Amino acid sequence: MTVVLVAGATGSLGSLIVKNLLERGATVRALVRPSSADGGTRLRDVAGHPRLSLRVGDLTDGAAALAPHLESVEVVVSAVQGGPEVIIDGQTELLRAAERAGVHRMIPSDFSINLWGYGYGVNILSDLRRTFAEAFRTSPVARTSVAIGAFPEYFLGPFHEVLDPAAGTFSIWGDGTRKIDITTIPDAAAFTAAIALDPMTAGRDVHVVGRQLSLLELRNEVEAATGRRWALVRKGSLDDLQTEIVRRQFAATNPFAYVALQYQTGMYGGSASLTDVRNADYPDVVPASVAEYLAGPGAAHFAVPESAVDRDDWPATV
Ligand SMILES: NC(=O)c1ccc[n+]([C@@H]2O[C@H](COP(=O)([O-])OP(=O)(O)OC[C@H]3O[C@@H](n4cnc5c(N)ncnc54)[C@H](OP(=O)(O)O)[C@@H]3O)[C@@H](O)[C@H]2O)c1
Repeated sequence: MTVVLVAGATGSLGSLIVKNLLERGATVRALVRPSSADGGTRLRDVAGHPRLSLRVGDLTDGAAALAPHLESVEVVVSAVQGGPEVIIDGQTELLRAAERAGVHRMIPSDFSINLWGYGYGVNILSDLRRTFAEAFRTSPVARTSVAIGAFPEYFLGPFHEVLDPAAGTFSIWGDGTRKIDITTIPDAAAFTAAIALDPMTAGRDVHVVGRQLSLLELRNEVEAATGRRWALVRKGSLDDLQTEIVRRQFAATNPFAYVALQYQTGMYGGSASLTDVRNADYPDVVPASVAEYLAGPGAAHFAVPESAVDRDDWPATV
């Protein structure tokens, strides 16, 4: 029985990786921070599972403190989220601890577009992940990276500025015809568990995907799911997108003002597209269609946020 340690186990992706690993028969150690020492709400339904143990630790504790959690572990899966102190420094401590414990493989917290289709400086969050990938060059622990494209949970949320439920608009850069890669968080977790337990993935970037469809096809899916029209806003060409990124970089105090557009430039221009998609290697993972997602949890994207409701329009009495 494979022993897997999952860091970021209380997160939206990490908690589902834990559940999928348990379903696949693995023994799972969930690394949780002291503030979520009981596993938090996301692990509640697997609490007490006979093959799950919680290990309390923070990546900032350092390799020596983390190493005991990794004894007898074969695979580490990291689904942590954060800035360079987590993605580079924290994961490097986890990798050093894995080396001490003789771990075979580690899946770093990438779960992104194709990180290798473009250079440094194009996407600040990809740069963190590529910088950490370099730590494996001299490590006996093999890196397995999982690339899934974009989570619709984020791509259709406010962060990406594609869908605006208050305005009833669907915005695109470019002509909207290039296929983009979309994978839901539950499907990414199901693939990741399967890949974690597949020793043939050592040293590889594994590309898996829920659906590949163009922005215009995605808008059709949104219209079919809602039964209404979403006005298409053509924001400009891909060159205009590049100009907008630079404009925001000068104006912004926070990189989150432009990083979503950095993802989009790779997705819409094709440099970040997944290549050699390996879904066929994991036939028991059957990803949801975008239509199924939009009819289920994705329906939440269509709700007009409270902040956008004009209270003057509300009736005085009901
Ligand atoms: N492709 C896409 O469209 C897309 C979109 C979003 C995210 N992602 C990627 O998916 C991955 C997971 O994201 P997520 O949304 O699941 O993140 P999340 O829900 O914010 O969860 C992050 C997890 O990391 C843990 N963590 C943070 N700092 C830590 C530290 N110093 N030590 C130990 N644990 C730490 C958190 O613990 P606490 O619960 O204690 O805070 C939490 O369990 C990330 O790599 C992210 O970039 C991809």
